Amino acid sequence: MITDLFLQNLPDSAQRLDAIFHAFNDLLFILDSDGTILDYKASDPSHLYTAPENFLGRKMQNILPPEAGRKIEDILSRLRDGGSKPNILEYFLPTPFGKCWYESRLVSLSNGQSIMLVRDITKYKMSEIKIKRQFDQLAALRSIDLAITSDLDLTPVLSVILDQVRAQLSIDAACILLFDPRAQLLEFAAGAGFKTSALQHTRLHIGEAYAGMAVLERRAVHIPNLKSRQTTFLKSPFLARENFIAYYAVPLISKGEAVGVLEIFHRALLGADEDWLTYMEMLAGQAAIAIDNAMLLKNLQLSNAELTLAYDKTIEGWSRALDLRDKETEGHSRRVTAMTFKLASQMGIKQPELAHICRGAMLHDIGKVAIPDSILHKPGLLSDEEWIIMRRHPLIAVELLAPIDHLVPALDIPRSHHEKWNGTGYPDRLAGEEIPLAARLFAIVDVYDALTSDRPYRRAWSRTETMKYIRKQSGIHFDPQVVPAFIEMMNGQG
Ligand code: C2E
Ligand code: SIN
Ligand code: SIN
Ligand code: FE
Ligand code: FE
Repeated sequence: MITDLFLQNLPDSAQRLDAIFHAFNDLLFILDSDGTILDYKASDPSHLYTAPENFLGRKMQNILPPEAGRKIEDILSRLRDGGSKPNILEYFLPTPFGKCWYESRLVSLSNGQSIMLVRDITKYKMSEIKIKRQFDQLAALRSIDLAITSDLDLTPVLSVILDQVRAQLSIDAACILLFDPRAQLLEFAAGAGFKTSALQHTRLHIGEAYAGMAVLERRAVHIPNLKSRQTTFLKSPFLARENFIAYYAVPLISKGEAVGVLEIFHRALLGADEDWLTYMEMLAGQAAIAIDNAMLLKNLQLSNAELTLAYDKTIEGWSRALDLRDKETEGHSRRVTAMTFKLASQMGIKQPELAHICRGAMLHDIGKVAIPDSILHKPGLLSDEEWIIMRRHPLIAVELLAPIDHLVPALDIPRSHHEKWNGTGYPDRLAGEEIPLAARLFAIVDVYDALTSDRPYRRAWSRTETMKYIRKQSGIHFDPQVVPAFIEMMNGQG
């Protein structure tokens, strides 16, 4: 219900106005040159921040929060000075439902009045804020990631320790049992100098046997001559064959916690003097620290796997936030990721490349976060200027993702998914095999999904039409080697 007053002022523009309303269907105000609100139209009256009687006849500057009011005042004075370009401002209002964001455009009319188009951009703003927050979280995860050195396995560490022990202490054999705090057991981890596998299956409770006793009592247990004692130890037939005489069990203690036991065996009596004993304690101390560090690393690596999981969840969140912006593309990222995974697997691509490709597919259009709605949601063909902006989305994606080490191997698809086999694509005008394979596969999947979906600028094509198009574009837009694989995959789907 556009009022008479408004129609009087714009007798010939009703059609144009309808068109504007089609694009921006939220709220419209008619302002006098000083900002007085003369009339309004709301596509949905619940979008009104306050009842009409509270704003009709009053100045817009005084109704909006002070900061937005000042911006309006600026724009109005610019319009009074003859500026005719549309003027845009963004602001938020506290509503009973929480903060709502609005984008307003002011356009001056020939009679000095102006129209103010107000659009609720809360949903879009929220996904923008969410994306920003997720980027921050990812940056934090990344800094932890950087602090973790790459895979340091405990086994080589233990073998270095044992070699040192045998050489420095001149003994025949030694082994290390590690304490597993969850099972409360000491378990054989590494040995050197043994003739049999007698000890390899050793599992002891704390307090059990000499090794268990050493851990329980937190002191070295010394048996000068195993043969002079009747112990369960010697009942092992294998151990009897080893012919050990002297034995030491030394607890490995780091930061007050027992991490294991070092067992020392010698096939003769050991003339252990004080220096030797001191040296043994020192080596045991070093071993305990090395084990503790290695265990720490191992645990960190476990949480590294958890980090990867967290990254992947974050990536999914971004791509969902992106799809949210446009109902038409809902599910696009998820669908193209699943199809790309299938096509790449079928073409023999293996992990870890496969995971990078999936991440790249998930994020291929993340650069569209920087493309204005007016372009992204445009119901018609894009103008030359709009195309220049739209074609930036691959490089925007690179800019967003390149600082994240974890995602660097996944950049091929976001960067190169609009390259074409014949070299006429963007952003780098690559041709043929200059285009990374991942991007060549993905391009087919992306176009297939785009064409079989409704877009603001056209209706969905049928599957048959789309497959025909893809076949026709083989060697033009698409890699002629990948097209048959794609067709095979689609046929396999029935
Ligand atoms: P998108 O909609 O996800 O489309 C991805 C790609 O699928 C397009 O890349 C193009 O190669 C193919 N494709 C999509 N729709 C059509 C179509 O109707 N006909 C043909 N032959 N191919 C199609 P392209 O062209 O580089 O476009 C990139 C993005 O630019 C599109 O992503 C879309 O967001 C936007 N865009 C493209 N054309 C238009 C348009 O006419 N109007 C508007 N508003 N946006 C457009
Ligand atoms: C809205 O007006 O609430 C959404 C804005 C958009 O995504 O076009
Ligand atoms: C998949 O889509 O099944 C794999 C996802 C990934 O590796 O990130
Ligand atoms: Fe794209
Ligand atoms: Fe896409």
